[in-house]
Amino acid sequence: MAPEQTDAPLLEVRDLQTTFDLSKKLSVCAVDGVSFDVHAGETLAIVGESGSGKSVTSLSIMGLLPKDVGRVSGGSIKLHGQEITTLSEHEMREIRGKEIGMIFQEPMTSLNPVHTVGQQIAEMVIRHEKLSRQKARARAIEMLHLVGIPEPTTRVDNYPHEMSGGMRQRAMIAMALACEPRILIADEPTTALDVTIQAQMLELLDDLQKKLGMAIIFITHDLGVVAEVADRVVVMYAAQVVETASVEDIFNNPRMPYTAGLMNSIPRLGSSINKTRLEAIPGTVPALTSLPDGCRFHPRCAFATDVCRAALPPLETATPTHQIRCARWRELSLSDRQAS
Ligand SMILES: Nc1ncnc2c1ncn2[C@@H]1O[C@H](COP(=O)(O)OP(=O)(O)O)[C@@H](O)[C@H]1O
Ligand SMILES: [Mg+2]
Repeated sequence: MAPEQTDAPLLEVRDLQTTFDLSKKLSVCAVDGVSFDVHAGETLAIVGESGSGKSVTSLSIMGLLPKDVGRVSGGSIKLHGQEITTLSEHEMREIRGKEIGMIFQEPMTSLNPVHTVGQQIAEMVIRHEKLSRQKARARAIEMLHLVGIPEPTTRVDNYPHEMSGGMRQRAMIAMALACEPRILIADEPTTALDVTIQAQMLELLDDLQKKLGMAIIFITHDLGVVAEVADRVVVMYAAQVVETASVEDIFNNPRMPYTAGLMNSIPRLGSSINKTRLEAIPGTVPALTSLPDGCRFHPRCAFATDVCRAALPPLETATPTHQIRCARWRELSLSDRQAS
């Protein structure tokens, strides 16, 4: 169940626009008018195929867009009501790790190969909490223990390369959580892991969320994972939000054909071989430099008509918790298709 949402959101993303300047003449909008809220204690999943703008959204929130190339060009990101897109790098450092932690898909992007994992976790807590070296080391050991790394008193002195992939992933989670951030952004944290370690990792995040009460933004293209972890879901396609709803509505009542298509591509447990076959959506996500006119999904959509080719549909509110970007959502019944 989603937690009570009476309080103001921890994080408010409104009409976020992130632009990459590819050359002097060519810019693309990798995030184009994206809005969502994140409340304390909840898990919001952002889903969509590769290239839909999920990572760029999270890097925009963290203030970690590649310098001189990527920039937030519109909209707003508020943390506890405070605008953060206009903060200096110095001010963002205060927020990163302490207010918002991030787990990257590839651990080596956030772990420094020349320092031990203990030093890296300690440095984080020294910076944010002004602990002594000794206390910071003790916290590092405690965190490694918390994420299930065996013999943390020895492992704390390991360099990243001395650890297995699964251990590195855990060490990165330990680092992201060392200062007990209010929000954790997990960008495809389990994609590189085998199924067993993936399951352990999801359980670990769930435990830690309950213990620390943090909000999680869980980015993934794996809907099986979404079903397991999410309270609410934002579906992205070609830089935009195309549907947002509770996890129950996303699975039981998807209204945008793209979402229904993603659903079809989940292998179902316990059904016949024939039905478990992955049925991917035909075609690919369009390049940002050659977006189609009209609905960005129409070239791949089995339900597209002239209306869909004519104009980009707005994100419409179907119920207070369910928004859909599809010109035909009122006429389409997608549940049959999903069940077939
Ligand atoms: N460093 C970059 N320079 C230029 N374009 C980029 C860069 N990073 C991302 N993009 C553009 O943004 C799009 C979305 O990327 P991304 O957010 O990483 O997708 P995903 O949903 O797979 O995380 C990419 O397809 C690409 O067009
Ligand atoms: Mg990504």
